This record gives sequence, C-alpha cells and structure tokens, in this order.
Amino acid sequence: MPIHIEAKAEEVADIVLLPGNPQRAEYMAQKFLDDPQLYTDYREMYGYTGTFNGVEVSIQTTGMGVPSIGIMLEELKMLGAKTLIRVGTSGALTEDLDQADLIIGQSAATVGTTINQLDQDITLAPGADFELIKNLYDSAVNLDMPVHVGQIATSDYFYGKTDDYTEQLKRLADRGVLAVEMETAALYNIAAKYGLRAATVLTVSDHVFSQVRADKEKIQQGVDRMTEMVLDTVTK
Ligand code: ADE
Repeated sequence: MPIHIEAKAEEVADIVLLPGNPQRAEYMAQKFLDDPQLYTDYREMYGYTGTFNGVEVSIQTTGMGVPSIGIMLEELKMLGAKTLIRVGTSGALTEDLDQADLIIGQSAATVGTTINQLDQDITLAPGADFELIKNLYDSAVNLDMPVHVGQIATSDYFYGKTDDYTEQLKRLADRGVLAVEMETAALYNIAAKYGLRAATVLTVSDHVFSQVRADKEKIQQGVDRMTEMVLDTVTK
C-alpha cells in the first residue's frame, strides 16, 4: 500500500478524475457516481471509486501544486491507474475567455521549476493524450459548451514569487498561453514517464490581469457541467 493513498490496487479504477480540492472530490463522487466507495481519507485527500455509465471510475483529490499532485500521481501509478484526467479551475490570461468557459490543456508550460527537476538535462514538452482530448473536445462541442484547446501554464505560485510575476504571466499570454493553474505540467510529465494517458480540463474561475473572480455559484456550475461531460466521455 502506498504511503499517502491508503488503498489496495483493486480499489482504484483504471480511469481516475483528479480534482485538487478534497471537498470537491467528495461532492463529485456523491453527485455523479453510482455506489461511490471511499477508499482513502488519509490527510483528507479523499479518493472514491464508483461507476458512471456502468464503468468503474475513481475520483482522487490531488491537493494544490506540483509537489502534492506529484505524490498522488506516483501512488496512482503504483495502484495501476491508466487514464488520468485533471478537472480543475484556472485563471484566464486573456479576456477572450469567459467565466466558466472550458479549457482543454493541449500542453503545459511551467512558471517555477519544480517539475523540471525530474529531467534536468532535457527539456520535455509533455502534452495531453490526443485521443482523450479529441473526444473531450467533441463532447463539449456537441453539448454546446464554450470550449478552448491550447497551451496552459502550470505555476508553482498562486500569488507570485516576485513583483515580476504579472510580467511573467503577460509574456505567457503574449505567446498564446490561455490560462494558468498549478498542477498540469506534473500530470503530463509523470504520465509521459510511465506511458499513461492524461488530459486536463479546466473551468475559468478568474481573470488574472483584471483580478475578477467568478462567484462561487458560477464556479460550481462550471465544475458540475465539466465533470459530467468528462465522466460521460471517458466511460462511453
Ligand atoms: N487556479 C485558479 N485560478 C488560478 C490563478 N489565478 N493562478 C493559479 N492557479 C489558479
């Protein structure tokens, strides 16, 4: 049994959704899964397995940031998980995106270097699994959900390391990066290391430069629609 996810391999499904927030993991499992069973609550990093469309799915909390999701991903790999989909929120780097729009992360740039320590002498460009993001994109379009596919940035900082943080994010925005969050580069990097399928789907919770944040209800609605779409797509 791994150290942080207190589960046996048979308790974790091949397909795992990855929200950052433990309360959100619990809520998603209760709302969307049939017969959800809690398999770990160590450090309140709740993990549940249930079914959707009759297919086994787990929902595992990752916590915030690269070090936390890194632990969870290594342990999910030990437990036999094969398809990993992060479902989270992000700060938009462009006013072309609206609150609660969906973003599918095709690739993840980094601000901060934690994940780049894995392979210091080479620069990987790990991206999402193509078939997974194609299916997710098609589902979103079929459901008339506003959806954008492109590069996102994974930052080690929420508030920034220095006064230059906004300038760093502006440079990313100038290069077409859609949004910032804190986990996907680790997901794509670790998935590449083990040959796992990975994708990230995000809902826009805030606009970084104007510092406008969607209200809690709007974020909740965005997360709900996104979760249902992701679950339906990966279990079809
Ligand atoms: N997740 C949601 N909004 C974010 C932001 N502005 N920066 C980093 N991660 C985020």
